[in-house]
Amino acid sequence: MAALHDFIDTEKTYQLVVERFNSDSLPQNNVVNKAIDMNPELIELILDLYNNEEDFPFEKMKKFSIEEILTYLQATHHYYLSKKLPEIEQSLVHIFSKYGQSHQLLATLAYFFNDYKTHLVEHIRMEEKELFPYIQKLIAASKQPADALKPTEKPNFSIQQFIDSHSPIEDELQEVSQLIRRYSGDESIPLPYKIFLNQVELFELELRKHAIIEDYVLVPMALELEHKLI
Ligand SMILES: [Fe+2]
Ligand SMILES: [Fe+2]
Repeated sequence: MAALHDFIDTEKTYQLVVERFNSDSLPQNNVVNKAIDMNPELIELILDLYNNEEDFPFEKMKKFSIEEILTYLQATHHYYLSKKLPEIEQSLVHIFSKYGQSHQLLATLAYFFNDYKTHLVEHIRMEEKELFPYIQKLIAASKQPADALKPTEKPNFSIQQFIDSHSPIEDELQEVSQLIRRYSGDESIPLPYKIFLNQVELFELELRKHAIIEDYVLVPMALELEHKLI
């Protein structure tokens, strides 16, 4: 996707990655506040992932703790819900105010985006309510002395269950950009649509990187912990 690469330069990528740690975009009195002290080495490595995911050195991630990875992912979820989604919605409102009468694409676009938003919020909620608390329990248990570990009944959640149900939520978003491009055909796309398109494409890229960290960094770490404990 050449257009997208032109749009994202190093400085923008850096901004995109560190923006989620700004204190005003973080929830108050939440565990996520710790993210402000995010390990700079981890941020550096995540930036590398944004720049080039093909040769990403996953083994280098092993030196960070699972808590650090979890904190990063939580801050990122919050950033999506409190900043990225509202920004995209704002653009959609702007397009409506300008082209509401004339473009039939809009109804489809708004429907699609709302539907997408529901799926994304559900996806994040499942991770926040089931996966992350489960991992936090594993972390807490791993810090207990071995003889203090009581045999517990089988938990009703497992990392394997997460692996089986973790859907590529970013793929759906790709359809939005395809929809606009298909509709526009050879005509030039009006500026507000271009802005919206850029936001959607950036967000799609963002969600892909997020899923890579979940699937290839967090999950292997959590599986290892689970195997030791359960
Ligand atoms: Fe997530
Ligand atoms: Fe996810």
